[in-house]
Amino acid sequence: MSVGEAIRARFPIFEHTTYANSCSQGALSNDVRQAYDEYLAGWNQHGAEWEHWVERAEAARAAFARIVNAEPGEIAVTTSVSQAVSALVSALPLEDGRRRIVISEFEFPTVGQIAHAQELRGAEVVHVRPEADGRIPLERFAEAIDERTALVCCTAISYRSGYRLDVAEVARLARERGALCLADSYQAAGAVPLDVRALGVDLLTAGTVKYLLASAGLAFMFVRTDLHERLLPTQTGWFADEDIFRMDISDYSPAADARRFDAGTPPVPNIYAGLAGMRIVEEAGVEAIDQHVSGLVGRLLAGLDELGATVVTPRGEGEHGPLVCVESTDAEALVAALHDGGVVTSSRDRSVRVSLHLYNVEDDVDRILAGLAENRSLLA
Ligand SMILES: Cc1ncc(COP(=O)(O)O)c(C=O)c1O
Repeated sequence: MSVGEAIRARFPIFEHTTYANSCSQGALSNDVRQAYDEYLAGWNQHGAEWEHWVERAEAARAAFARIVNAEPGEIAVTTSVSQAVSALVSALPLEDGRRRIVISEFEFPTVGQIAHAQELRGAEVVHVRPEADGRIPLERFAEAIDERTALVCCTAISYRSGYRLDVAEVARLARERGALCLADSYQAAGAVPLDVRALGVDLLTAGTVKYLLASAGLAFMFVRTDLHERLLPTQTGWFADEDIFRMDISDYSPAADARRFDAGTPPVPNIYAGLAGMRIVEEAGVEAIDQHVSGLVGRLLAGLDELGATVVTPRGEGEHGPLVCVESTDAEALVAALHDGGVVTSSRDRSVRVSLHLYNVEDDVDRILAGLAENRSLLA
């Protein structure tokens, strides 16, 4: 039995819908629903379960650490990637000649907007733009990163085109020039193997909304151990303090490890959900998910070729993950037409985004292709 068939029954949406929109929101599992129930039941039964809730937050930190091959002490628990990245840039001095933030053109809006907000603090933001074929050659990064660069933001997989950037090589360029490298991996975590050591990144972010199969309000940031002492976030909160329960307001004494990038009260309900979602991912294994999804993506691409569709996502070896973007003459109309036929996708730019995950099966791919064939006039 394929990974998809084995797991599918835990996601009731598949009883009536062909769900191919995990790039936007992972499907709801019975496990995640039960986790929310468990949170409410505990609250109802015991009142304020603070010790247990803090222990759950630590379990989530450890689960994400396992997924990216880090130590729990290298993971910050936040409510969003935005919160994590804002805390990170608040720790960058942006002085001594290192005022540059280099961002790929494929960064999620939040990363680009936070980078530009630092212009108010004297930062200079440099965009690394793709070629006409949708790829960003390494030379473009090499030209942009220099001894003036404080931070390089290189998203792992583009939410807009599905293009997978060569994070390891960009991290190497950043390191050679003394800059930090942040890989926002929201569109990758849970779907493709991520190993912070192999990638050589300094920082990596992701959240639970998409391929980690939970809901909004929980995200993580990996911060490499030897950076902890040097990075002092000025955007902070009491859960980032070295001793949360001392309740001391006489100074700023952040935690020694990546917890210094946490902030206020942890998002407890979302942590319950996040733990349940990440458990499913870990049980299936990211390698197995990646293999399963690669097979489905191959079937989808072959079918799209037969249809004569224009695939926006670069399709070379290692150039894509679970997300395939297909050009349309009217992407919103095509998403709506597919939806009417029971197929859920989403749109960005001029493309329909089809994203596949562990619960999808070949039959889903065939239904998506049939839906696209029925609406052939909306394909570019
Ligand atoms: C690549 C990427 N980064 C970040 C986010 C969201 O960030 P936040 O957790 O701040 O909402 C998304 C969500 O769509 C995303 O796709």
